[in-house]
Amino acid sequence: MTRVLRGQTLSFLSDPFETAPDAAVRHHRRGAVVVEDGVITWVGPEDQVPTHDAEISDYGDALIMAGFIDAHVHYPQTAMIASWGKRLIDWLNSYTFPEEARFGDAVYAREIADRYLDLVLAQGTTTMCSYATIHPESVDAFFQAAEARRLRALAGKTCMDRNAPDNLRDTAQSAYDDSKALLERWHGRGRLDYVITPRFSPTSTREQLEALGALWAEHPDCLMQTHLSEQVEEIAWVRELFPEARDYLDTYEQSGLLGARGVYGHAIHLEPREVDRIKEVGAALVHCPTSNAFIGSGLFRMADLKAKGLSVGLATDTGGGSSFSMLRTMASAYEIGQLAGTALHPAELLWLATQGSAQALHLGNRIGNLAAGKEADIVVLDLASTEAIAQRAARAESLWEQVFPTIMMGDDRAVRDVLIAGRSFSQKN
Ligand code: GUN
Ligand code: ZN
Repeated sequence: MTRVLRGQTLSFLSDPFETAPDAAVRHHRRGAVVVEDGVITWVGPEDQVPTHDAEISDYGDALIMAGFIDAHVHYPQTAMIASWGKRLIDWLNSYTFPEEARFGDAVYAREIADRYLDLVLAQGTTTMCSYATIHPESVDAFFQAAEARRLRALAGKTCMDRNAPDNLRDTAQSAYDDSKALLERWHGRGRLDYVITPRFSPTSTREQLEALGALWAEHPDCLMQTHLSEQVEEIAWVRELFPEARDYLDTYEQSGLLGARGVYGHAIHLEPREVDRIKEVGAALVHCPTSNAFIGSGLFRMADLKAKGLSVGLATDTGGGSSFSMLRTMASAYEIGQLAGTALHPAELLWLATQGSAQALHLGNRIGNLAAGKEADIVVLDLASTEAIAQRAARAESLWEQVFPTIMMGDDRAVRDVLIAGRSFSQKN
């Protein structure tokens, strides 16, 4: 079936951190997108659409762009998002671990996976890379829920064999065995990919990190995700636990857990050596701004790290993050950029939430852009979704001025439609 979407269209030609924003994008004020069999086949001006026999969706002035990609979430933390008053380690012990302990129950895991995916789809997120819990059931539940919605999604079993409650610990061997079985069941099945997932160095013994490093070496096409240098107390703890390591990143490198397909969440308090090494191996960092503000972790150095050429994605970090919305996450990235001394341009924010995350997850050839050949995972944004936004956008003299109020003040009311592989998930018009 052929579908034509009409509206404003926004595509990226290059990275706006490297090219001037206006040169980095192609924008059609009256544009159109042709979708065939779940894939974008054409983007251009509305009056040049090359097909006439198609179902037409006219979104008027709304902005059609690639769906948002959330590069780091914990779907099992959905029901405990916005838990008050703790810093990272206390927050994990007080709120996170008790909730994650419930995910050995496959029925509960599926209930939360369904709830999480419906919440984020309503926010325009079309792909996410999630941590599950130590329970294999939690991985199966997530992938089954994603498959039912035909989503391109990634996830892995979160491995922990120390410094966690008894009912949330595996072992080096069982982490290897369970991860391997899940990887064989889910990796590359339809639109799903398995991600090898040690939680972070404080909750894994050296033996467990090495076992997962060995698994990664056996499956080098998989991504590996973990946390890195999120809070200063955490870094001091890692120094005590791994006195032989040069720094936090080294605890991973010494165990075979540093590589080009490594995806490291937070990465706030990095040593110069760590930055150089991440750049050298071509690994990716994921910025989680609402989480970093909410848990009080610190200011991610976006401008410096992008200027050094590092691959950076953007993420909610649900439920350390305080929002399911990638619009809110872009707003938070803007605010953290301001506090760190650089105002991120709207083009940079939109790029991070689409192409940046897609590239960090090594999926830039499939998703994250409104361009021919890409999978048709699309969000349609109403740029005047509330009175407050509409009255500001009405004064806009450029696309960027028109879109920035929605980035800063928008929520699910701005999400007019979401398409997964070309099919509308929920039509609000
Ligand atoms: N570090 C280790 N586990 C977690 C987690 O679940 N959330 C956050 N924000 N940081 C972590
Ligand atoms: Zn996290």
